[in-house]
Amino acid sequence: MGGATTVFRTDPEAFLQPAANLTVERRSRFLLGEANFEVDWVPAPSSQRDREGLGPLFHATSCLACHVGNGRGAPVVGSALAPAPLLIRLSVPGQDSHGGPLPEPTYGDQFQPRALAGLPSEGQVQVTYEPLPGVPLTGAGPVTLQAPRYTLAALGYGPLAPGVRLSPRIAQPMVGLGLLAAIPEATLLAWADPEDGDGDGIRGHPNRVWSVKEGREVLGRFGWKAHQPDLEHQAAGALMGDLGLTSPLFPRSACTAAQTGCLAAVSGGEPEVDAENLATLSDYSHLIAVPARRGAEREDVRTGKAAFLRAGCAGCHRPSTLTGELPGFPELSHQRIWPYTDLLLHDLGEALADGRDDFRATGTEWRTPPLWGLGLTATVNGHTHLLHDGRARSVLEAILWHGGEATRSREAVQRMSPQERSALLTFLDSL
Ligand code: HEC
Ligand code: HEC
Repeated sequence: MGGATTVFRTDPEAFLQPAANLTVERRSRFLLGEANFEVDWVPAPSSQRDREGLGPLFHATSCLACHVGNGRGAPVVGSALAPAPLLIRLSVPGQDSHGGPLPEPTYGDQFQPRALAGLPSEGQVQVTYEPLPGVPLTGAGPVTLQAPRYTLAALGYGPLAPGVRLSPRIAQPMVGLGLLAAIPEATLLAWADPEDGDGDGIRGHPNRVWSVKEGREVLGRFGWKAHQPDLEHQAAGALMGDLGLTSPLFPRSACTAAQTGCLAAVSGGEPEVDAENLATLSDYSHLIAVPARRGAEREDVRTGKAAFLRAGCAGCHRPSTLTGELPGFPELSHQRIWPYTDLLLHDLGEALADGRDDFRATGTEWRTPPLWGLGLTATVNGHTHLLHDGRARSVLEAILWHGGEATRSREAVQRMSPQERSALLTFLDSL
């Protein structure tokens, strides 16, 4: 799956492995980053100078708390309060000066359910599910999907602005991200088809986002809307938004003018995470291995792959490509990889829409997620919940949520014979 970086692990630690082709020196670098990814940050002042600065408003105390086992965040099951790995992005209509989303004026860009002692938290996220009318399948009973409804309760800083948009997101798997960073921009642009020139109903276009580091607009690759330019920005964004830690890329705290207690809190340094620690987190995020496929040669798996191609899934979930030269990462460069994504934005229909524009991504668009490692979700995370907010309880449910540009694909799956559909699911489970 990941070229020479691939590891052969099928156990609950399958997503925690360094790329197989790292030198001893590079492995130590990976371990340094892993330690920063796993450590619990503490409030300042503390006796742990290099670990302090958590909050004052925050969501979790470590990266790993949400990226459990480096896999998918746990979904909301039967409880009213959302667990850590689900976060809510906030925005109001309009754009910031770089074309990005406009933060909610009092609560900012991300809702923080936790706060240090003495400060009010922003509130709680409540989730309820509502069953939808059954989706018919040839040769099988209809499938009942569940639609989530999100409410922000116990608001700590007064009412939300009128017209506020909530975008719930579940933590994404961490495997193979450096390989995705190494796919040449020219490949992604060649896959784009914004006007649907080939008439297959599938468009696809890249996001163009603001790079703070480069001070210009660049192609976006990471996050559910491809709204992050690279893994360093993603790590700095997570430090700021999820843990309340400043870093060289985002040196100012996320407290808004209305959050006076937050602004007055003790800082853990200027910035709280230095350039070196940020770099180790970015390197770690690049170097996590992708596990090998299981059972690729089995007959039912091959039948399922043919069904995947016939249903047009590969129009977005592009099976394979070559990485280019990624400066600083010889082990990720020039590899044949099998990520099953085009990293482009697609309209998946109103039912999945969050209504949040994010640079060039509209409120109905999402980045095609990679499917490598999909079949190990249950082993690594003990659940099979999928999609941007974890609403799908299984791979079949995830497929049946596809609309918009993927409508033809979804209908093809609905029309498949039970044998063919089951082969398709067996193939997906082999990834
Ligand atoms: C509160 C839970 C939470 C914490 C803590 C957290 N993340 Fe995330 N992570 C997420 C969510 C949710 C997303 C998807 C974000 C989006 O689409 O807006 C994500 C996305 C990512 C991605 C992009 C993956 C992809 O496929 O594009 C990377 C890389 C990442 N996180 C790294 C980190 C690092 C490094 C830390 C610690 C500094 C961290 N995360 C802490 C929830 C979390
Ligand atoms: C038009 C592009 C497109 C086509 C065609 C398409 N998908 Fe997707 N797929 C997406 C996008 C975008 C998402 C993410 C949607 C979300 O999270 O709301 C997704 C999500 C998924 C997921 C969940 C992944 C995760 O990480 O949560 C699975 C599984 C999946 N697709 C399988 C398929 C299969 C099988 C087919 C063919 C029957 C297919 N897709 C066709 C774009 C597409």
